[in-house]
Amino acid sequence: MKSLSYLNKYFFKYKWHLLLGILFTIVSNYFGVKMPVYVKETVDDFMTNTNFTKVDSVLLLSLKLGGIYMFLSIAKGFFLFLMRQTIIVMSRLIEFDLKNEIYTQYQNLDAPFYKRNSTGDLMNRISEDVSQVRMYLGPGIMYSINLVVLFFMVIYQMIAINPILTFFVLLPLPIMSVLIYFVSTKMNQLSGKVQEEQSALSTIAQESFAGMRVIKAYSREKEIWEGFSSSSSAYKKRTMKLVFVNSLFMPTMMFLIGLSTLIAIYLGGLMVYEKTISLGGIVAFIFFVNNLTWPFASIGWVTSLIQRAAASQKRINEFLIQHPEVVSTNQTPFVFNGKIEFSHVSFTYSNTGIQAIKDISFTVNKGETLAIIGRTGSGKSTLLSLLMRQFDVTSGNIFVDGNEIKSINLETFRNQTGIVPQDVFLFSDTIKNNLQFGSVSNHVTMEQLVQVTKAAHVYHNIQDFPDQFETVLGERGVNLSGGQKQRVSIARALLRNPKLLLLDDCLSAVDTETEEIILSNLKKMEKERTSIIVSHRISAVRNANKIIVIDGGEVVESGSHNSLMMENGIYAEMYAKQLAEEKS
Ligand SMILES: Nc1ncnc2c1ncn2[C@@H]1O[C@H](COP(=O)(O)OP(=O)(O)OP(=O)(O)O)[C@@H](O)[C@H]1O
Ligand SMILES: [Mg+2]
Repeated sequence: MKSLSYLNKYFFKYKWHLLLGILFTIVSNYFGVKMPVYVKETVDDFMTNTNFTKVDSVLLLSLKLGGIYMFLSIAKGFFLFLMRQTIIVMSRLIEFDLKNEIYTQYQNLDAPFYKRNSTGDLMNRISEDVSQVRMYLGPGIMYSINLVVLFFMVIYQMIAINPILTFFVLLPLPIMSVLIYFVSTKMNQLSGKVQEEQSALSTIAQESFAGMRVIKAYSREKEIWEGFSSSSSAYKKRTMKLVFVNSLFMPTMMFLIGLSTLIAIYLGGLMVYEKTISLGGIVAFIFFVNNLTWPFASIGWVTSLIQRAAASQKRINEFLIQHPEVVSTNQTPFVFNGKIEFSHVSFTYSNTGIQAIKDISFTVNKGETLAIIGRTGSGKSTLLSLLMRQFDVTSGNIFVDGNEIKSINLETFRNQTGIVPQDVFLFSDTIKNNLQFGSVSNHVTMEQLVQVTKAAHVYHNIQDFPDQFETVLGERGVNLSGGQKQRVSIARALLRNPKLLLLDDCLSAVDTETEEIILSNLKKMEKERTSIIVSHRISAVRNANKIIVIDGGEVVESGSHNSLMMENGIYAEMYAKQLAEEKS
């Protein structure tokens, strides 16, 4: 329950909605409670009126009663409408704010956080959990206020008519609340499980659609279908249970209301006989019982709803209280000149305990190109993540223009950096918008687009598409070839005219000829730029000013192409192997 107190700040923000909501609830219930009172008076009037045999007076009485009843119903309904318009609207406004708050927090959090938590979990908290919380903010609050207000008003009126009958008629209602609490809790548990099955089912479906090409290529349709089918039948089983418990809900309620009404009629009848209550009084009691039924039923429902909301809010709070490990406190914009230095840098992934970087040192000066080459899993991508400060080093230091990387303004440093990641990510949007994503300014001219796409040697491909720069890419850019995706991604990085360019194995899917064209294009623009190129291929790195060979997270060789060839070590061995492969 404590977790829900986090939401109090929002109640304060929307205090007028809440206060007006309470006011409208009181007014609406006032009209509601008045109805049985008028019915009672009319019936009693009717019974005691000696003229009641006259058709005229019966008609008059009925018209009067009908008129009042209609007025009260309309008034009650109108304020009921206003009550929902304030409280339910408030819950939707808070839902909106809460989603934005969570999303902003997600964006603040850093790479280590995203390594720890799965996408499904992140999605669930911002959608499913927020919905649960909204049920508390809207219906939960609304029915609670309504119950309190109505309870006091109705009980007051009932006691005024007959305290003893009030006591007996109310007896079954707490039982109903408790029963409904159990039924609702069971229902919530079951629907929680149904939700789980549902998300398992959609994960299977989503993954199999995404991997349909692989599934068909390996003709594994049958196995995948069996997996889907068994998950689907688990889902069906759960829903059947839910349907069963659901069906118990209404009959239980009807039974207990029936019991209250029966008590009102039976005991009331005896009392009329003893003349301790009027006939109108009993009629009013039956109305009151009906008035109280739903609010009492809602106690159980609301209680279990609040429990669920508290559990959801607890999960949301877990994320909201997290602080990013990578923080940049310096507000002064950083202007990057071009020098990067790694000094005895080591790094261990905290989640797996793998030491990916061991005591690496090197320097790259302005305008130079550093190439990093090494086997798969040797720590090349990790090195670039450290330079982008996606993670902080475990020991050692990274200096940017002689400043410790932790001390500079990270946002402005990243704005001057263009990275082409190893696993290309393109948005399902037009090629133009995907490219513009890389730009720091909002205005990108056609010339700029042409220039960068020509440099990345993808312009001629884009020209071949019917819609050219307006071509819409599928999810993750599926309608481009692997090499095209990589080159669009390079063009995107170039568009910001970065002072530091990081290429993470981004020419792996293009042939050596194209690779050469792109590298020589990059070389032309290189004077003002510091570049770091990661690759498996000697051809991509041989022209760099400096080459470091890493293995198992350590620098094993470094130097220029020529000096490394002279050393006759790993680099020379790789060169010989790749040369032989190319020839064969
Ligand atoms: N997010 C991560 N969490 C834990 N360990 C990781 C993570 N990413 C990489 N590693 C580990 O760190 C080591 C270095 O990985 P890295 O991705 O830097 O290699 P790489 O040289 O870029 O390889 P490749 O050439 O295949 O891209 C590997 O042993 C890998 O298992
Ligand atoms: Mg890599």
